[in-house]
Amino acid sequence: MENTYFITTPIYYVNASPHIGHAYTTIVADVLARYHRLSGYKTFFLTGTDEHGDKIAEAAEKANTTPKDYADRISAQFRGLWPELAITNDYFIRTTDLNHIETVRAIMQKVYNAGDIYFGKYEGYYCVGCERFYMEKELVNGLCPDHQVAPEYREESNYFFKMSKYQDWLIKHIKDHPDFIRPERYKNEVLAFLREPLEDLCISRPKSRLNWGITIPFDEEYVTYVWFDALINYVTGLGYPDGANFRMFWPHAEHLIAKDILKPHGIYWPTMLKSAGIEPYRHLNVHGYWIVDQSKMSKSLGNVIKPLDLKDKYGLDSFRYFLLREMVFGLDSSFSEEGFVQRINSDLANDLGNLVSRTMTMAMKYCAGKVPEAHTPSDEDRLLMEAAGRAVAEVESCFQGLALHKALIATWDFINVTNKYIVEQEPWRLAQDAANKTRLESVIYNLLESLRVIAILISPFMPGSAQKILEQLGIISGDGQGFDSARRWGELAPGNNLKKADALFPRVKYEKEKEKPDMKDYVIQPVKQLIDYEDFEKVDLRVAKIIAAEAVPKSSKLLKLKIEMGEERTIVAGIAKDYKPEDLIGRKIVVVANLKPTKLMGVESHGMLLASETEDGLTLLSFDKDPITGTRIK
Ligand code: MSP
Repeated sequence: MENTYFITTPIYYVNASPHIGHAYTTIVADVLARYHRLSGYKTFFLTGTDEHGDKIAEAAEKANTTPKDYADRISAQFRGLWPELAITNDYFIRTTDLNHIETVRAIMQKVYNAGDIYFGKYEGYYCVGCERFYMEKELVNGLCPDHQVAPEYREESNYFFKMSKYQDWLIKHIKDHPDFIRPERYKNEVLAFLREPLEDLCISRPKSRLNWGITIPFDEEYVTYVWFDALINYVTGLGYPDGANFRMFWPHAEHLIAKDILKPHGIYWPTMLKSAGIEPYRHLNVHGYWIVDQSKMSKSLGNVIKPLDLKDKYGLDSFRYFLLREMVFGLDSSFSEEGFVQRINSDLANDLGNLVSRTMTMAMKYCAGKVPEAHTPSDEDRLLMEAAGRAVAEVESCFQGLALHKALIATWDFINVTNKYIVEQEPWRLAQDAANKTRLESVIYNLLESLRVIAILISPFMPGSAQKILEQLGIISGDGQGFDSARRWGELAPGNNLKKADALFPRVKYEKEKEKPDMKDYVIQPVKQLIDYEDFEKVDLRVAKIIAAEAVPKSSKLLKLKIEMGEERTIVAGIAKDYKPEDLIGRKIVVVANLKPTKLMGVESHGMLLASETEDGLTLLSFDKDPITGTRIK
């Protein structure tokens, strides 16, 4: 039977625009989908948007529009973003789609018919950000632990799902299928949660309070709780109950989420499925959080990183590579643009980019632009082939365990072995003597074949770059380069026409955005204390001319200035970041001449110059006419 693979992302809320957190999950899902397609699996990749509930209704109200209009707008942003990031989803689901609404109603009716829904009263603390009730003991200092806001106290009559009925079944299922939730830390988290008695789940909202939702099938006055609606997308997307896709793909369902939504996926969803008579999903795969400036991304903190900004600045494949290489699946990771640029330069421009361009240059030069024949392999050649085999096997096993960063490390180990092979085989030396022709051909062949293997290994991660490498090798797109063929050394056909292209990954530069000082800090401070004129008289301000300037050794801030003001003096000033020494010579400045001397970084400063803040640093006090050097300022 054909191998089958079904991968999902969370469906994203349409209350805010996409950021790198959403992009990360969706790119991971894409890498997995591409890998499985390349490995011959029949694959279905589902993503979409979650559009009902208080959260969206509130956001729409703030934006002065209707929930549907608001949802249309933001959903289109997600849908439009994915092709830009080379995401190959097979379907994009919206919870406002008619077929989804019908499926939710059908499943709810099934659960109701099974006797698992009852009507009751609810009182509790509700966090709109999380769209769920909290028990008092779950709050931290009375606040939602995730959103740090005080939840609303709500008292309502509602429908409840008997989740508690399935608690023992779920515990057993998790224990019988040790990788049902992975990595293990998240399985343990769910099991820890299940050690306490499960409360039943409130699955409705009265229309009198919220009507932006799916009307429940057995009571017109209520809409469905947004999680009971959203989770069902995973089966709607496959055409549940009768669709062929559902039959084919559901048994292989792999959900991908971040740790924030572990509880709905690890507890609500399997129990809902059980009650509705649907098999549980196969795996819940949980990753960590991208942290920016030590905290979660949020609009109010102003640390939201937009995927398209990075893609436009540095290129798509670099962006995809960085996200996948940097984060250890399951753990949190800090995002820094500086770290991103370093990785592009070292791993992509240096290691991979140079390998491709050196190999292609030599092949064009020594083999007349065609793939040469390979002759009997030497021991060194065998070592190279073995390294390729190891990399392919390692990458495959990393994909099974979702250690995607390790798959990239294994690929880069092979890239480095290949770079070393060039250094050791010295093709440029072989080329000097016609007697080495067959050896030179073998070396070039092995290098080109290594590039083919590397292109296949990176193709789920960096599809565009993989394609460019294959094109340079004269391989026509999609021409039998499945993952399997990476295992078969020697498939590159001698005689292929090579096509050298521009650098795959040009080096990039990180330019730190200048931090603008917060102008609020420079709002004129109230005058603190009044002084008498005699006190002012005590301050001897002079016009001085700078006659020499140099940096103070080992200091990034200080300059040593020689000034003329009737007498010559040396002063030290903290203006090195704002002025170059050579630009200061001849300038007239204002100096406090009677300040007691002090030593700064070992240099005695006899006076202090006056300067003021600007938006971009310091500016020296200056004059609009030329004052007489040494005169006193009053
Ligand atoms: N609508 C629900 C999911 C319903 S699924 C049936 C939801 N939406 S969300 O827009 O808040 O998306 C949450 C998901 O976005 C996370 O689980 C994760 O996949 C991704 N991420 C959002 N922020 C993230 C980070 N800072 N880091 C990594 N992933 C993050 O919850």
